[in-house]
Amino acid sequence: ATERTLSIIKPDATRRNLTGKINAKFEDAGLRIVAQKRIHLTKAQAGQFYAVHAERPFYDELCEFMASEPVVVQVLEGEGAIAKNREVMGATNPAEADAGTIRAEFAESVGENSVHGSDAPETAKEEIAFFFSGLELVG
Ligand code: CMP
Repeated sequence: ATERTLSIIKPDATRRNLTGKINAKFEDAGLRIVAQKRIHLTKAQAGQFYAVHAERPFYDELCEFMASEPVVVQVLEGEGAIAKNREVMGATNPAEADAGTIRAEFAESVGENSVHGSDAPETAKEEIAFFFSGLELVG
């Protein structure tokens, strides 16, 4: 089925001017960018977005990092978009990511791993609604 997923190009990637190269990977995989904006999160906003990780030891570092520089938030649409996006991103830890994936090519570490993608339909819905209004989704 056609799905939508929430993607974030993280500060380590925007800082290195990799937005276009990352978007090319998504588009080459058949994912359509139906909404996109560049924003600078506050640490509190990053904390709210990643609230599910609040008890993890890396939570504070993660929120600091996500608020350190601008990010590009986007909605990707396509057949099986959630799984397809995760395939294109590669494993969370770039050392374990398959060759050719975004994280294998661009990520700097498990924390500064260039991209985020929703992990399931319910979280995709919540994460899209966190950043975008219905009017901003142009399919
Ligand atoms: P993401 O897919 O955005 O979801 C949660 C993020 O936490 C993850 O990508 C990583 O960037 C980060 N993360 C996961 N594990 C670690 C870790 N061991 N140390 C630092 N950051 C981590």
